[in-house]
Amino acid sequence: MNMKKLLSFALALVMALGMASFGMAEEPIKVGVCIYQFNDNFMTLYRTELQKYLEETYGAQVTVVDGKNDQTEQTNQVNSFIAEGVDVLIINLVQSTSAATVIDLVQAADIPTVFINREPAEEDMTKWEGKTCYVGADARQSGTFQGEIVAALENQGDYNGNGTIDYVMIMGDPENVDTPYRTEFSIKALTDAGLTVNKLFEQRGDWMQENGQQLAANALAQFGDEIDVIFCNNDAMALGAYQAIVDAGRVVGEDIALLGVDALEECVLMVSEGTMTGTVLNDHVGQSHTAADVAIQAANGEEVDSYYWVDYVKVTAENAAEFLPAEE
Ligand code: GAL
Repeated sequence: MNMKKLLSFALALVMALGMASFGMAEEPIKVGVCIYQFNDNFMTLYRTELQKYLEETYGAQVTVVDGKNDQTEQTNQVNSFIAEGVDVLIINLVQSTSAATVIDLVQAADIPTVFINREPAEEDMTKWEGKTCYVGADARQSGTFQGEIVAALENQGDYNGNGTIDYVMIMGDPENVDTPYRTEFSIKALTDAGLTVNKLFEQRGDWMQENGQQLAANALAQFGDEIDVIFCNNDAMALGAYQAIVDAGRVVGEDIALLGVDALEECVLMVSEGTMTGTVLNDHVGQSHTAADVAIQAANGEEVDSYYWVDYVKVTAENAAEFLPAEE
């Protein structure tokens, strides 16, 4: 073949390939997303951003389902997605202890899976390496930040001046390791700072605002002015606790401190105005984008790491404005 012929052959080949890939317009990647329950402030922000990003960035075909806080229901949803033949699953487990069972199902169907928000046990993440992973934030960090915010206050959280930080702990659902970690590490940050602590009350409110209000009201009725600080494992419960604090005639920043986690916009606004002492940004944008990017890689047959971590960020009166949407 002379040079000219070779060139026109190469050109024809390039055009043929181009047309072939154009003609067989690629099928969108099908993503099944299982959320532990839709009735959750933080996970609502998370799933909305996740779906939007997958559709806008990757043109993916996304179906999001509500596990209604029922593992049996969620396992059925996983089986339906498998039967439908999705390319990849993103799962926010109802029970993190069900990870092993779910991994057996997806592995048998050869569907890579990204776990989010509720971290499975470490040994589960080694069952099907390269094809399963966890995307989340290290909850120890969020607890530590809550405690550090209190330790940095002028009175170091001792509002009644009795020499100890008398606190109330309103906890999330124990199915999420965020609950034990935030509960432990918020207090550890205080004791690590050399402060004396005294636990007055500790109960679970399962992330829900109305439970936060009820539990804080109970604690305030029982311990009154003894309470220096109310720690909540998330912002929704802190919003409830705030109502109870107001109803009890107490004033955040004057005679009591109130802490949450998530940095819901409402709470960031309260922190900037001083009606909440502090919160911690649980970066749903960073987490959902990472989960989506990794899911698409896995759907395209690439191996994934076992863990992808996104940082928490402290939100206090000093920096709260940075976390609010810019004013029009
Ligand atoms: C936490 C979050 C809570 C709740 C929970 C659900 O990370 O702080 O508000 O959404 O996840 O598992």
